[in-house]
Amino acid sequence: MAIVTFVEHDGTQHTVDVEAGKSLMQLATDNGIPGIDADCGGECACGTCHVILEPQWLPLMDDAKMDELQMLDMTPEKTSTSRLSCQIQVSDAMDGMMVQLPEFQM
Ligand code: FES
Repeated sequence: MAIVTFVEHDGTQHTVDVEAGKSLMQLATDNGIPGIDADCGGECACGTCHVILEPQWLPLMDDAKMDELQMLDMTPEKTSTSRLSCQIQVSDAMDGMMVQLPEFQM
Protein backbone atom coordinates (compact mmCIF):
# COMPACT_ATOMS: atom_id res chain seq x y z
CA MET A 1 0.00 0.00 0.00
CA ALA A 2 1.45 3.35 -1.02
CA ILE A 3 1.20 6.34 1.29
CA VAL A 4 1.71 10.07 1.01
CA THR A 5 2.13 12.48 3.91
CA PHE A 6 0.67 15.97 4.02
CA VAL A 7 2.65 18.35 6.24
CA GLU A 8 0.90 21.41 7.63
CA HIS A 9 2.76 24.69 7.97
CA ASP A 10 3.23 24.02 11.70
CA GLY A 11 4.78 20.61 10.99
CA THR A 12 1.74 18.49 11.80
CA GLN A 13 1.80 15.42 9.56
CA HIS A 14 -1.13 13.47 8.11
CA THR A 15 -0.35 10.20 6.35
CA VAL A 16 -2.95 8.80 3.97
CA ASP A 17 -3.20 5.78 1.69
CA VAL A 18 -2.79 6.49 -2.01
CA GLU A 19 -5.86 5.77 -4.11
CA ALA A 20 -4.39 5.62 -7.60
CA GLY A 21 -6.29 7.65 -10.16
CA LYS A 22 -7.52 10.28 -7.73
CA SER A 23 -6.09 13.76 -7.76
CA LEU A 24 -3.83 14.76 -4.90
CA MET A 25 -6.50 17.33 -3.97
CA GLN A 26 -9.20 14.64 -3.82
CA LEU A 27 -6.97 12.51 -1.66
CA ALA A 28 -6.56 15.42 0.75
CA THR A 29 -10.20 16.45 0.89
CA ASP A 30 -11.48 12.86 1.12
CA ASN A 31 -9.23 12.37 4.14
CA GLY A 32 -10.11 15.67 5.84
CA ILE A 33 -6.66 17.19 5.50
CA PRO A 34 -6.77 20.80 6.74
CA GLY A 35 -5.30 23.47 4.51
CA ILE A 36 -6.62 22.30 1.13
CA ASP A 37 -9.68 24.42 0.45
CA ALA A 38 -10.27 23.41 -3.20
CA ASP A 39 -12.98 26.03 -3.64
CA CYS A 40 -13.48 25.32 -7.35
CA GLY A 41 -13.72 21.57 -6.94
CA GLY A 42 -10.71 20.80 -9.08
CA GLU A 43 -11.33 23.01 -12.10
CA CYS A 44 -7.95 24.77 -11.87
CA ALA A 45 -9.80 28.02 -11.26
CA CYS A 46 -9.26 28.98 -7.62
CA GLY A 47 -5.69 28.23 -6.59
CA THR A 48 -6.77 27.12 -3.11
CA CYS A 49 -5.26 23.66 -3.44
CA HIS A 50 -1.65 24.88 -3.55
CA VAL A 51 0.99 22.43 -2.35
CA ILE A 52 4.77 22.47 -2.32
CA LEU A 53 6.54 19.30 -3.36
CA GLU A 54 10.03 17.92 -3.03
CA PRO A 55 11.75 18.16 -6.43
CA GLN A 56 12.48 14.45 -6.76
CA TRP A 57 8.78 13.68 -7.14
CA LEU A 58 8.09 16.11 -9.97
CA PRO A 59 9.17 13.72 -12.78
CA LEU A 60 6.31 11.39 -11.77
CA MET A 61 3.76 14.06 -12.67
CA ASP A 62 2.56 15.68 -15.84
CA ASP A 63 4.05 19.14 -16.30
CA ALA A 64 1.90 22.05 -15.19
CA LYS A 65 -0.17 23.47 -18.03
CA MET A 66 -0.55 27.17 -18.74
CA ASP A 67 -3.75 27.64 -16.71
CA GLU A 68 -2.13 26.05 -13.66
CA LEU A 69 0.98 28.19 -14.05
CA GLN A 70 -1.17 31.31 -14.29
CA MET A 71 -3.01 30.40 -11.10
CA LEU A 72 0.27 29.67 -9.32
CA ASP A 73 1.60 33.08 -10.35
CA MET A 74 -1.12 34.63 -8.17
CA THR A 75 -0.20 32.47 -5.17
CA PRO A 76 1.75 34.45 -2.54
CA GLU A 77 3.68 31.48 -1.18
CA LYS A 78 4.62 30.06 -4.59
CA THR A 79 7.97 28.28 -4.78
CA SER A 80 9.85 26.62 -7.64
CA THR A 81 8.22 23.29 -6.72
CA SER A 82 4.69 24.58 -6.17
CA ARG A 83 1.79 22.80 -7.83
CA LEU A 84 -1.98 22.83 -7.68
CA SER A 85 -2.91 19.51 -6.13
CA CYS A 86 -6.06 19.18 -8.23
CA GLN A 87 -3.86 18.88 -11.31
CA ILE A 88 -1.78 15.96 -9.99
CA GLN A 89 -2.96 12.40 -10.42
CA VAL A 90 -1.61 10.17 -7.69
CA SER A 91 -0.08 6.78 -8.31
CA ASP A 92 1.53 4.05 -6.26
CA ALA A 93 4.90 5.28 -7.54
CA MET A 94 4.46 8.29 -5.23
CA ASP A 95 4.83 6.06 -2.16
CA GLY A 96 6.56 8.06 0.56
CA MET A 97 5.97 11.49 -0.97
CA MET A 98 5.86 14.42 1.46
CA VAL A 99 3.44 17.19 0.50
CA GLN A 100 4.05 20.52 2.19
CA LEU A 101 1.03 22.74 2.72
CA PRO A 102 1.42 26.53 2.59
CA GLU A 103 0.58 28.66 5.62
CA PHE A 104 -2.36 30.19 3.77
CA GLN A 105 -4.33 29.43 0.62
CA MET A 106 -5.19 32.54 -1.38
FE1 FES B 1 -9.35 24.98 -7.46
FE2 FES B 1 -7.32 23.26 -7.55
S1 FES B 1 -9.20 23.03 -6.54
S2 FES B 1 -7.46 25.21 -8.48
